[in-house]
Amino acid sequence: MKHLLSTHDLDVPTVAAIMNVADHMSEINARSVPKVPALLGRTVASVFFEDSTRTRVSFETAAKRLSADTMSFSASTSSVNKGESIRDTIETLSAIGVDAFVVRHASSGVPVSVTEWTDASVVNAGDGWHQHPTQALLDAYTITRELGTGNTLAGVRVAIVGDIKHSRVARSNIDLFARLGARVTLVAPGMLLPAGLAGPGITVTDALDDVLPDVEVLYMLRVQRERMDAGLLPVGGEYSARFGLDERRARMLSGDAIVMHPGPMNRGIEMVMDPAELPGSRILAQVRNGVSVRMAVLFRLLGDGQLGA
Ligand code: NCD
Repeated sequence: MKHLLSTHDLDVPTVAAIMNVADHMSEINARSVPKVPALLGRTVASVFFEDSTRTRVSFETAAKRLSADTMSFSASTSSVNKGESIRDTIETLSAIGVDAFVVRHASSGVPVSVTEWTDASVVNAGDGWHQHPTQALLDAYTITRELGTGNTLAGVRVAIVGDIKHSRVARSNIDLFARLGARVTLVAPGMLLPAGLAGPGITVTDALDDVLPDVEVLYMLRVQRERMDAGLLPVGGEYSARFGLDERRARMLSGDAIVMHPGPMNRGIEMVMDPAELPGSRILAQVRNGVSVRMAVLFRLLGDGQLGA
């Protein structure tokens, strides 16, 4: 497989192989000069048709630390505003010379289409409500390294809380965490919980307080107001009261539970308390690990020529 489009592309041995490479990349990132020549002469283009801060910077940092050249394209500053199609954009950049495209788009399925317009590798950096596979990898990596479970999540109790319906992060993480053996509880109001997600190892509830004492990982999702039809979100602070993380709920967690969030956080909505006050917060560890994991993905795709183990 020369692309990474979905967590479904990742079998368990491939995930383990990526995590092992990510450990080497973390070691490189801890050096005073965090750069190696592994992808010298390769070009990674980040093509973002939707806003992003951390994902774009994370991929571009990952490419640069492996000495790849980077090209950066955002819809707001490009000829897309002059009506150039996505296909024309990809074909133009391919003609300049690109080895990997990192693609984000508000519509599900765009990264798959991009594979038909280029010979380069394609990495999905988030498409619509669909998938965000490197987020799932960096989150699984963060949990395994924080909990010391090797390359598996066998038996790890994870609660994923909030706007599951609109979240590509939730779809990606539920699939990957469950296949790595985690026991996943989805906590959401009925209207933000699509049908059909329950399955082996996955349970569903709307009672956050009931699950808090038992979880090892509390994964808070961003409420995706920009993707929501008017009227879906409970008003007047009701969402925060039922599903927000505040001091009272933080005290219900076991002492060694960790708290995660993919960012960007909505302070005062799902994150009611200041995460700096949460000893279990691993939100910045996620960001750091994101660079290592994306280095591992780019290295395997462009250095080894394939993702698989
Ligand atoms: C996520 C995304 O864009 O899918 N953010 C990210 O990549 N770090 C999550 C979100 O927007 O809620």
